[in-house]
Amino acid sequence: MIKELLGTISEIPTPDIVVQEIISTASNPNASAKDLEKVISMDVGLSSKILRLVNSAYYGLPRKITKLSEAIVIVGFKTVRNLALSVFTYSALHSKHTFIDHDKLWSHFMTTAIFAEHIAKNIGFMNREEVFLAGIMHDVGKIAIDLLFPTYMYELAKFSEEKQTPMFLIEYKCQVEDHMELGGELLKLWKFPDEYISVALYHEKPSLNPDLPYVEMTCIVHLANVFSNIFLPGYSLSYGPPYLDPLVFSVLGIKPSDLKIMFHELERVFEKSKDMIYGGVKDEEGVQT
Ligand SMILES: [Fe+2]
Ligand SMILES: [Fe+2]
Repeated sequence: MIKELLGTISEIPTPDIVVQEIISTASNPNASAKDLEKVISMDVGLSSKILRLVNSAYYGLPRKITKLSEAIVIVGFKTVRNLALSVFTYSALHSKHTFIDHDKLWSHFMTTAIFAEHIAKNIGFMNREEVFLAGIMHDVGKIAIDLLFPTYMYELAKFSEEKQTPMFLIEYKCQVEDHMELGGELLKLWKFPDEYISVALYHEKPSLNPDLPYVEMTCIVHLANVFSNIFLPGYSLSYGPPYLDPLVFSVLGIKPSDLKIMFHELERVFEKSKDMIYGGVKDEEGVQT
């Protein structure tokens, strides 16, 4: 079983001690901004990348932030944590040259996260920062497949494009371990809290699990993923008309007619977020890592 091998394969990046500490703040209600600042400060490169993201047009801050402590006060402790984990995900995604376009896949992760946060705000879901992080992480299984079986990943994406069929439906038909399962396993290995694992496992079709824990969060990311695939077709390596699970309507309390309004709102969000979506995570000198 591939998922059992994940932890023993050296191609799979593992969070270093700094990232491990940051992940643990995601589930620790007692973690303080000071703790987060202390741990991030241990890694100078990480701090500068976070500051670069905080200063992007997306956050629209009136002046440039140069200190991590200031960033935590201004955009909030959870947002800084999310940006730190986004930097880690970006590096994991770019850790090896393969046959797929990692920048495009990154844009898909970021668009899904930004859309998920916006949808959460729209429907009054409280844990918006958690939803953002779940959006960044939802497709990490694709990183695992790409690192372990780059040719297979490439062929899978090509087949999805040729057949104009979403990748997850092809994976189901092939009865192989899919990107949802591997994503869930990878997040378990990285010691992410359960809600992120749930989203990774069920983001393509939340109704697959009738007892789905964190169903609201999973439905938000599912819907954000659908919109993300509409805005950036093929960037997720999945093609064809995206599948929308009707469960989102009852769980999120929205009507099919709301989707059109949402689409127009997301158009504005997308325009405003282009530097985050396409910018990648580069350091101050613009060197991509
Ligand atoms: Fe997916
Ligand atoms: Fe996705």
